[in-house]
Amino acid sequence: MKNFNQKIVVITGAGSGMGRSLAKQLAESGATVLLSDKNEAGLNETRRMIEEAGKGACKTYLVDVGKREEIDAFAKQVLDEFKYIDVLINNAGMAIGEATLNEIPLEDFELLINVNMWGVIHHTRAFLDILISRPEAAIVNTSSVFGLMGIPSQIPYCVSKYAVRGFTESLRLELVKTNVAVTCVHPGGIDTDIAKNGIHYKNREKAVEHFKTLVITSADKAAGIIIKAIRKKSKRVMVGPDAKLIRFVSQAAPGLLESYILKKKDQLEQSMN
Ligand SMILES: NC(=O)c1ccc[n+]([C@@H]2O[C@H](COP(=O)([O-])OP(=O)(O)OC[C@H]3O[C@@H](n4cnc5c(N)ncnc54)[C@H](O)[C@@H]3O)[C@@H](O)[C@H]2O)c1
Repeated sequence: MKNFNQKIVVITGAGSGMGRSLAKQLAESGATVLLSDKNEAGLNETRRMIEEAGKGACKTYLVDVGKREEIDAFAKQVLDEFKYIDVLINNAGMAIGEATLNEIPLEDFELLINVNMWGVIHHTRAFLDILISRPEAAIVNTSSVFGLMGIPSQIPYCVSKYAVRGFTESLRLELVKTNVAVTCVHPGGIDTDIAKNGIHYKNREKAVEHFKTLVITSADKAAGIIIKAIRKKSKRVMVGPDAKLIRFVSQAAPGLLESYILKKKDQLEQSMN
């Protein structure tokens, strides 16, 4: 998709981080951005920023992507009002703090899967027919580097992001003869509120502090990389140098990556005590 001018783009989780940056940059390119989030204040702030910049058009919707009925109602409202969309960016997601399988309350595991995995699947199903009917369309799903490697004490998040990757790669092949390009996004450490907004069981403050030591790419830079990937119809995009390195090492030297992950986990445990 070379041009976003006059395109209608749905972005979930647009009240913060990469979703907000994507919304601002796509509006700047002349798109009409339809933004959803469960965080009303964040969503209003994104809309304010876009209106102030004065380019593109923007509408906001309060939607919990962990609830199928809210997604279906959102899709119906959008299609009643706009008739079609050209791009769906499934960006909304949540994190979970360090906890082993036995420590995580099952309801939190289920919540995370509802938001990070089912949210992506339900949105895609709700908009798929209309996207296929467009001359040119795109579906962009946000996995993670945690969709490339297993991480101890991060099972629910890894499960959700591997699922998004599997869903997206399979969908891409299903849609290969259509006009819908499908992109799987694998961000590395991006400077957003994902850790702050997450569920935590241990030391929230230290977990957020630790996350800050891992981020190397700004949300604006990440959004620019994702938009470039949509333009190029990329199958997958590694966002940030850390993501590129992790992908390379996971294939070339998986044992080395495993040792590094275990060392990092020990360091994190020590810093939490
Ligand atoms: N920041 C990173 O380092 C990183 C790395 C890999 C993947 N990701 C993924 O990138 C995506 C964007 O995250 P971000 O880093 O910008 O984080 P963020 O917390 O800044 O933004 C995520 C947005 O999603 C919204 N959201 C969360 N749960 C929701 C729900 N149930 N319904 C509706 N909205 C909901 C939040 O309110 C927030 O506005 C997520 O899918 C995340 O898993 C982030």
